[in-house]
Amino acid sequence: MPGGSVWLLMLALALPSTGQQHLEEAERIMIATPVIDGHNDLPWQLLYKFNNQMRLPEANLTVLNDTHTNIPKLRQGHVGGQFWSVYVPCETQNKDAVKRTLEQMDVVHRMCDLYPETFACVTDSDGIKEAIQNGKVASLIGVEGGHSIDSSLAVLRTLYRLGARYMTLTHSCNTPWADNWLVDTESEKPVHHGLSAFGKLVVAEMNRLGMMVDLAHVSVDTMKVVLNISKAPVIFSHSSAYSICPHRRNVPDDVLRQVASTGSLVMVNFYNAYVTCSDKATVSDVADHMDYVKKVAGAKAVGFGGDYDGVDGLPTGLEDVSKYPALVAELLARNWTEQEVKGALAENLLRVFREVERVKASLQGTAADETPIAFEEVQGPCRTSYGYTKNAGTARRPPAALALALAVALGLALLLSVVS
Ligand SMILES: *[C@@H]1O[C@H](CO)[C@@H](O)[C@H](O)[C@H]1NC(C)=O
Ligand SMILES: *[C@@H]1O[C@H](CO)[C@@H](O)[C@H](O)[C@H]1NC(C)=O
Ligand SMILES: *[C@@H]1O[C@H](CO)[C@@H](O)[C@H](O)[C@H]1NC(C)=O
Ligand SMILES: *[C@@H]1O[C@H](CO)[C@@H](O)[C@H](O)[C@H]1NC(C)=O
Ligand SMILES: [Zn+2]
Repeated sequence: MPGGSVWLLMLALALPSTGQQHLEEAERIMIATPVIDGHNDLPWQLLYKFNNQMRLPEANLTVLNDTHTNIPKLRQGHVGGQFWSVYVPCETQNKDAVKRTLEQMDVVHRMCDLYPETFACVTDSDGIKEAIQNGKVASLIGVEGGHSIDSSLAVLRTLYRLGARYMTLTHSCNTPWADNWLVDTESEKPVHHGLSAFGKLVVAEMNRLGMMVDLAHVSVDTMKVVLNISKAPVIFSHSSAYSICPHRRNVPDDVLRQVASTGSLVMVNFYNAYVTCSDKATVSDVADHMDYVKKVAGAKAVGFGGDYDGVDGLPTGLEDVSKYPALVAELLARNWTEQEVKGALAENLLRVFREVERVKASLQGTAADETPIAFEEVQGPCRTSYGYTKNAGTARRPPAALALALAVALGLALLLSVVS
């Protein structure tokens, strides 16, 4: 081999490959701007695996290793903020949804208590910045499904007080006031064609409280109505682009244009079924969704919403929360600017959250909405009617007709006993 060629070969080996360069660049960017992810279901795993007994040795978040999420992986992945989902299944609707939601909120608070060197539970945009500066994973709560408030604005307000900072209006079931994505598959019938009158009050109350509205899982009509009426920008905490993979959980183009005009945010989901509409996907396939949202709605509309620990099929190269830098490297390889990358990682979410907080401040002095949902809209065997009728929930006091019948029967019995 001629000397010149050897020299060239050595140079080629010494220089990092462009892939390696992009990964190093991604790490450098993420040290300053770690990712704030929109949706992670670790709390569901803690319920499912350990019935929320976090102090079991096998539930230790440092050693836990059959989940997508644990503390070493969060560190490796440069996760600086996480909306932890306090998901409870649709099966709980009209049953124990509120109680189970409270339990999942409790488990997030206990994560922060048990691992204070890793997690800082925060409730506002300044809190996120501060936690990141202190090297903590800013931990926030997202309520995944309107069924969690059991059609009550009072429960909504109470969840806010306990730290909930977004609510997905539906999971994969209609609530008594909003339609979910399954109506677009025609496997369920549309009931509200978006939101009922009460559903619009829920959105207004969320604006007043400063709770972000999340449109993952809702029907396209619900997306459009909410984007039209919300006083603050909204998020899709874990949804991808319909034009890249036509799954009804994804966001169609006309909605992406509304996202752009309202300053809202699509935090792209990594679940294979939403990324490629198949059971296999790559880092590049996820980047295609990010490129697409950027093309249609602008770079300021892009975020990360991995859906880790909520799904069972993740792209090769994005297997767990340690892998975010690989996706960032892919965006850099596609010539995203550092500013665009930082936007997608964190700044876009912070912008939306600050705007939600600004709308809250502008509505200070507006009274809490006291409107109850109509009783007919929620009537069921698990529900009393206190407050709805004058002698509601009258288990103690038998209705007049029953009392009369009892009196007559008693009288008759007495009469018979006298006769016999
Ligand atoms: C989890 O395990 C680590 C490493 O063994 C240990 O240092 C830590 O105290 C444990 N934390 C809890 C909350 O059990
Ligand atoms: C995963 O954790 C379990 C229990 O803590 C441990 O026995 C096992 O060796 C670990 N596996 C790996 C691959 O680290
Ligand atoms: C959006 O709001 C405007 C004005 O309130 C209304 O005329 C229009 O029909 C609404 N569009 C949708 C899709 O709700
Ligand atoms: C990125 O920019 C470089 C240099 O301008 C160019 O050669 C390359 O084709 C671009 N890549 C993509 C994916 O646009
Ligand atoms: Zn979900």
